[in-house]
Amino acid sequence: MELLLLILSTIVFFFFLLHGLDLYRKRRMPPGPTSFPIIGNLLDIGPKPHESLAKLSEKHGPLMTIRLGSITSVVASTPDAAREILQCQDEVCSGRMIPDAVTALQNHDKAILWISANEDWRAIRKALNTYLTHQHKLDTLSDLRQNVVDEMLEFLNQSALKNELVNIGNLAFAVVVNQISNTCFSRNVTNYESEDIGGFKTAVKTLMEVDGKFNIADIFPILKPLDPQNIRRQAKAAYAWLDHVVQGFINERLKHRELKLPRFGDMLDSLLDYSEDNVQVFNLIHIKTLLVDLFIAGTKTSSNTTEWAITELFLNPDMFAIVRKEVSTIVGEDGKIQEEKILDLPYLHAVVKETMRLHLSVPLLAPHKTEKEVKLNEYVVPKNVQILVNVWAMARDPKYWKNPLSFMPERFMKTEVDYKGQHFQFLPFGSGQRMCPGIPLAHRVVSLMVVSFVYHFDWKLTHAREDMNMNDVFGLTLLRATPLVAYPISIE
Ligand code: HEM
Repeated sequence: MELLLLILSTIVFFFFLLHGLDLYRKRRMPPGPTSFPIIGNLLDIGPKPHESLAKLSEKHGPLMTIRLGSITSVVASTPDAAREILQCQDEVCSGRMIPDAVTALQNHDKAILWISANEDWRAIRKALNTYLTHQHKLDTLSDLRQNVVDEMLEFLNQSALKNELVNIGNLAFAVVVNQISNTCFSRNVTNYESEDIGGFKTAVKTLMEVDGKFNIADIFPILKPLDPQNIRRQAKAAYAWLDHVVQGFINERLKHRELKLPRFGDMLDSLLDYSEDNVQVFNLIHIKTLLVDLFIAGTKTSSNTTEWAITELFLNPDMFAIVRKEVSTIVGEDGKIQEEKILDLPYLHAVVKETMRLHLSVPLLAPHKTEKEVKLNEYVVPKNVQILVNVWAMARDPKYWKNPLSFMPERFMKTEVDYKGQHFQFLPFGSGQRMCPGIPLAHRVVSLMVVSFVYHFDWKLTHAREDMNMNDVFGLTLLRATPLVAYPISIE
């Protein structure tokens, strides 16, 4: 009897102790909506989490706690809250959680996008800095990217001759895939005509879809072995395909270097050079995984931004005309537009920035994670809490933007606000140490495509302008819900 009483009182004691601890922990975390047992706030988050989180933050504040299954997240919804996380507490808030889909990648513990800011990550970022962020290195391969655009123009000329409808998003995606493959390996990996079934484009598209899909196994880890939505299996096939192809390119290049043939001067050469000097921290596995990651990080984000920019220019013919006029000032005698010359066109730059503000490709950034307990303003957030930064909400906040829902490139003509991570109301590439390292390349690729679509062709829509569907779909990037299609009309 005494033993039973002792056991019962021990259970009651621990129950109250844990309950008390839980209350204490909740008091120190930012406030948030009441959550149900097991599912947490799952019912509060619809198919567009950035929109539902923005609404919830109006009630619960700039730093808010959300629970989804076993994952606790802190959501930042104002520029000040973003600054606290990405600038003041950048070091501690720079972790990542690896989604279950990504574990299908053979060496996912070397994947820059998904690993925490550890030693591997530092070595990879350093290696990237030897090429990707160097304007003059990017300049050296601008001819190859120019060739890709020339091929696109040829494709559009043929479509115009045959009066064929062009799917602008699909075309832009194929062009970006080749722009990035030329920057990395000095070669094309896809074409514009075919659907490329089973090829490079399909593999990258599949990964963008499955890596960005809501996966129940991510919030209930107990389900991981079952892979209930078949997400990891799909990812595995696509990753294996890309891994194999990229390994082939690396092997070819190693032979080329052994034979002491002339250098290509592309990113692969630069990564191999870096690896030779730093083999302890950066080896061939790092290179292969990084190259696969660059296609995932850089392609849909850039093509999607291009597709939205063209959509807005179709809807605003006066702006379309201004871009065309501005470009005409730098066109060469051969009628070609050089990448280097468009980098400083102010109106074009304003159009690209305004597109990134109104149609953010990555509305919640890639989720961050706390690496240890951290104080965020008056709150204390424990280790391993996911951090979501709702940059979509900030880019549309009327406190910072006049007529935030209107497309007005002029707003960027009169302000210093830029996307380099210092203006926290506008963070399309993030800020702090996890900020996108691809900004200079993205700037070139998107700008060159936009001017090529605008300068060389007139366009006929299949419907009235006011019937344009402007809805988007949430995923790893925020895509157009319906593809943008139009007939190109040659003007030369
Ligand atoms: C318009 C085009 C692009 C947009 C909007 C974009 C945006 C972003 C964003 C928001 C992040 C996450 C930042 C964070 O977690 O705080 C990111 C990460 C990254 N981006 Fe981009 N990006 C673009 C193009 C590119 C390109 C062209 C490349 C390279 C080829 C690239 C490579 C990367 C990489 C490697 C990361 C991971 C960085 C890390 O976790 O340390 N991106 N990007």
